[in-house]
Formats: sequence, structure tokens, C-alpha cells
Amino acid sequence: MDKRSQQILDVMGITVWEMRDPVVSAEDQAQLISSPISSSSSTINHSTQADGRSPSELDVDVAPAVLSKARKIDVSMMSWDELQASVTACQACSLSTTRSQTVFGYGDLKADLMIIGEAPGAEEDRQGLPFVGKAGLLLTEMLYAIGFTREQVYIANTLKCRPPNNRDPEATEESNCEPYLLRQIELLQPKVILALGRVAAHNILQTKENLSKLRGQGFQYKQTKIPVYVSYHPAYLLRAPQEKSQAWLDLKIISDLLKH
Ligand code: URA
Repeated sequence: MDKRSQQILDVMGITVWEMRDPVVSAEDQAQLISSPISSSSSTINHSTQADGRSPSELDVDVAPAVLSKARKIDVSMMSWDELQASVTACQACSLSTTRSQTVFGYGDLKADLMIIGEAPGAEEDRQGLPFVGKAGLLLTEMLYAIGFTREQVYIANTLKCRPPNNRDPEATEESNCEPYLLRQIELLQPKVILALGRVAAHNILQTKENLSKLRGQGFQYKQTKIPVYVSYHPAYLLRAPQEKSQAWLDLKIISDLLKH
């Protein structure tokens, strides 16, 4: 490891243990990437057809007051700008009535690495940007440790609006928002997706499997076949710093895959 990475890991409070054998051999990693979709992701429902005739109209399952304002939109053929405008105007669920603003995403539209978190928190809702609170600071340090700045990756969330009091997203909120994330991924075409935390991992991989069982394995994102890896959410790492060394192992896999 170079000196800069070591310094950053020191700042993050991570002790890097030297493994006698690599955690994931080069052979295993190649197999991970080429391996068939896991059983959990093979059950994923596609919301966009390859020919563009998509059934991905936003479902509406919200209170009547919101319902009357909700628009049914097919986002599956939208350009980036159209998609962003559509998110900004979205009233498909009641989160539109409690948000300050939507949080579409941030970063390089040509990024190799896409990071997907759960949903905006209070600070993100205020600034309109993902991961800008305390957890975001840690995420920025973690990315830096593998040689990326926030500007060199693309950061988004499964939900574009803050759930009140940072509660877990509800199933209808996730399904309403899902076409936006899917279209973002289709347009960005990242080489690797890193899902942070249980909620993002479960949403993206359509599984209820324990996070610790999902880590270290390569999945594929729906029909895009883009590899998806899973790690701990930085907010969890702030509460459980002893797990940072595990997160570092996850980041190393990503870094090696991208040969960064
Ligand atoms: N937590 C998330 O999952 N996403 C954010 O953008 C901020 C905190």
C-alpha cells in the first residue's frame, strides 16, 4: 500500500491486516464477475423492456391528496436532463410533501464506479446533494482511500426524497422511485455498482438476505448485467467503527476490479 493510502486509513481509524493469502484470488474474482446472476437477483422484475416499450409507469399508492397531483410518467426512454427534471417534479408519493427538495445524484456522468445509498438524510435534503452529512464525509474518505474523489464517481440513492425522521423507505416509495434509479444506471453504464447498507442492497438485489452474507460476492444489476457489490453503510460504520476493516476489504475488491 502506498503512503497516501496508509495515511488516509490511519485517519479513518482502519487497521489493515496483512493476509497470508489474498481474500479473493484473481481467479475467484474473475469467476465472480463472469458468474451467473445469483438466485436472489434472478427473481428481479424488469421494469424496462429492451425495445423501450416499458411498463415502468410510476405506480401510485398514496394518500388521495397526493394522488390527485401525481403524474404517470414513463421514464424508460428519457435523457439524463429529462430524467432529472422528472425527479425534481415528482409527486408520485407522499415524500414529495415532506421533502425540501429532491436529491438526484452527484458526480461524473462517465464514472466507472457508481455508489448507491439508501435515501437522503436531513443534510442531503437541505443541500440537494447525496452523502453530504457525517456519513458522507466518511464515504468521501473511504473513496479517497482507493484513489477516487467524489467527482470521479457517481453517487445516488434508491430514494430521491428524504423519508421523514430518516425512517426506512416503504415498499411503495421504493417501487415508485425504482424506475428513476434504473434509468440512471442505464444512462451512466458504470463498470461497477457499490450498494451501501442493507436497504440499498435489498432494494437493488431484490433480496432479504443478511448484509454480511451479501458482502464479498459479485451480483448483477437486473438486465444490465453490471456487477454489483455490497458493503456497509458509512452511517453504520460511524456507529460500529470496528467494522471499518471489513469495509476496507470490500473497497479493495472494487479497487482491484477497476484496477484503480
Ligand atoms: N445516507 C444515504 O443512504 N444517502 C445519503 O445520501 C445520505 C445518507
